[in-house]
Amino acid sequence: MTHDRNPPNVYDAEAIPAKVRSEIELLLQSGDLFRYTRKSDAPVTLLEQEFADMLGCKFALAVSSCSAALFLSLKALDLPAKAKILIPAFTFAAVPSAVVHADCEPVLVEVASNFRVDIDDFKKKLTSEISAVLISHMRGHTSDMDQIMTLANAAGVPVIEDAAHSLGTQWGDQNIGTIGKIGCFSFQSYKLINAGEGGIMVTDDAELIARAIIMSGAYEETWKKHPKLQQACAKWQNKLPLYNLRMQNLSAVVVKAQLGEVPRRVADGRRNHDHVAAQLNTSPWFEVPAPLAKELRAPDSIQFNLIGFNDEQAREFEIKSKENGAPVQIFGLTEGNARAFWNWQFIEGETPDLPKTRNMLMRACDMRLPARLKETELDFIASAIKNAATFVMEKS
Ligand SMILES: Cc1ncc(COP(=O)(O)O)c(C=O)c1O
Repeated sequence: MTHDRNPPNVYDAEAIPAKVRSEIELLLQSGDLFRYTRKSDAPVTLLEQEFADMLGCKFALAVSSCSAALFLSLKALDLPAKAKILIPAFTFAAVPSAVVHADCEPVLVEVASNFRVDIDDFKKKLTSEISAVLISHMRGHTSDMDQIMTLANAAGVPVIEDAAHSLGTQWGDQNIGTIGKIGCFSFQSYKLINAGEGGIMVTDDAELIARAIIMSGAYEETWKKHPKLQQACAKWQNKLPLYNLRMQNLSAVVVKAQLGEVPRRVADGRRNHDHVAAQLNTSPWFEVPAPLAKELRAPDSIQFNLIGFNDEQAREFEIKSKENGAPVQIFGLTEGNARAFWNWQFIEGETPDLPKTRNMLMRACDMRLPARLKETELDFIASAIKNAATFVMEKS
């Protein structure tokens, strides 16, 4: 019986690598926490360089969160007030919130049962009224970026990638986050790199990053500390608002210490995901959607669909999985879930009719699977979930 053993802890993060303690101690002793105090080579600046190199792009700007990066990306694009931004209807509430924060209006696109943008609906909604596209690779599921880029380029609108969950994911030979004009990543604790909070945006466009640098809070001439961007930044000084969304040095040191861990976490996360997925796919009650052909995933969680359940059975499954020690959340059935679009009541106007996404959310299950989990823990989780479904669906 699964509940006779200790359930694995799927929430705690890994320890921050010990090698970074002396650097943190030095920062604490010197009090040098603000990114723009040092003349050069501040930890935040070094992180930006290392992160840009790691992804193979020209520029990076580290900020206080991925939400801040999304907000600054939209502001940097210099869109008209109330510009309409196409976003997937399956994402975290922070994404439409960043759109609203940037004084734009989110337009929600259907997401299919494989958790990826429904390209037919994307085509339909990519009208001349749309100013930009913001693709959330929600839970690290990559939508068809070839089709999205072709359609967006033909329409002449920029694409921002929300790669909060996609560090280390590849699309063919491209890194996710480098396909669109701007890519944004999160360092919040439930992401591949954990700094508690934090985010970063990457781009090859000097003009865009310069605008974002100023708006992130590079006041007076602090922007001169961004290597290779002095010229691009100079013309925006005092011309743009300062939203003060900077990253501080302690966070940068904590993030930088984990960059070397990324390949291992990606490989282990994928192995863990595929191990549990293979077991769930042997059950008639589940379907774990396969990745797209060009997609090499970097998951730290698993999503799967319930097959043949009604609402009552799905709710009972949620309760039973918790009792079994592997608490599964069904996005659309968990009260107030921030990933269910009908709960984004801060968006003006009626909640849109999105039957595909709604149906998906009512049966799509979510479970964290951090890279540090061991095979016995993964087996525990898979059998706890399978037993919960069997209990609900096979009782007389
Ligand atoms: C898909 C997605 N995008 C963006 C964010 C925002 O990230 P942050 O917490 O760093 O602002 C989150 C947060 O979990 C997320 O899940």
